[in-house]
Amino acid sequence: MLEVREVTKAFGGFLALNRVSLSVERGRFHALVGPNGAGKTTLFNVIVGRYRPDGGEVRLKGRRIHHLPTPRIVRMGVGVSFQRAQAFLSMTARENVMLALLGLRGGVYRGRPLSRFRREAERAEELLGWVGLEKVADRVAAELPLGDLKRLDIAMSLAGDPELLLLDEPLAGLSRAERRQMMDFIERLLRRLKLTLLFTEHDTDAVLRLADRITVLHQGEVLAEGEPEAIKNDPRVVEAFLGGSHA
Ligand SMILES: Nc1ncnc2c1ncn2[C@@H]1O[C@H](COP(=O)(O)OP(=O)(O)O)[C@@H](O)[C@H]1O
Ligand SMILES: [Mg+2]
Repeated sequence: MLEVREVTKAFGGFLALNRVSLSVERGRFHALVGPNGAGKTTLFNVIVGRYRPDGGEVRLKGRRIHHLPTPRIVRMGVGVSFQRAQAFLSMTARENVMLALLGLRGGVYRGRPLSRFRREAERAEELLGWVGLEKVADRVAAELPLGDLKRLDIAMSLAGDPELLLLDEPLAGLSRAERRQMMDFIERLLRRLKLTLLFTEHDTDAVLRLADRITVLHQGEVLAEGEPEAIKNDPRVVEAFLGGSHA
């Protein structure tokens, strides 16, 4: 589904990604883990076309995408939810999902009220249902608890009917009980929609429960890759995590 090959990305003289390779197979739940500053979010930004890599390539379903603009990549089947929520806080959940849907069409709604777009309204209803937000659809995002905001973000990232979903720390900021709920929710939703997942997460228990493949990134380089069981017992991984800035 997704092939990252030898991707390098520098900021000034600083190598945030150094020849990073990883391969996400269709239907897999693939975790990208590593201490803060390892380069995880940078890699997501490269995959979705927000950053252009300085070297290497990214392929989606066999096609090279690392030179394409983000909207093209989204239309090719990639949904993304970054750690910082993308919803407009002053708008309702429903309006946010509608904007995500209309955004895919390149802003054709300019100046017209959202209520004019029937097809998008129906689809928004469906997406809100998928993430369990139908009851709060008309509340403004600012009033939603963090867990609901994260669900809203996921609904928005599903607007383009992705085959591959990228979730950057979907559990961050949630309480223990909420994390558990969110994890179950993500798992159920993705299996139901038959999506492939690439996600980053600090919660080791969550990673081991959700992921069937793990890539460990450390200081911009791939330290290890494998099945959760092997990764958990890899001495280099243990060392990097205990010795690093991992919270
Ligand atoms: N736009 C940027 N400009 C300069 N440095 C950046 C930029 N984005 C990320 N970095 C740096 O790259 C490194 C990796 O960051 P990031 O990908 O956010 O790590 P992670 O998501 O694993 O915590 C960090 O040292 C960060 O400061
Ligand atoms: Mg990050």
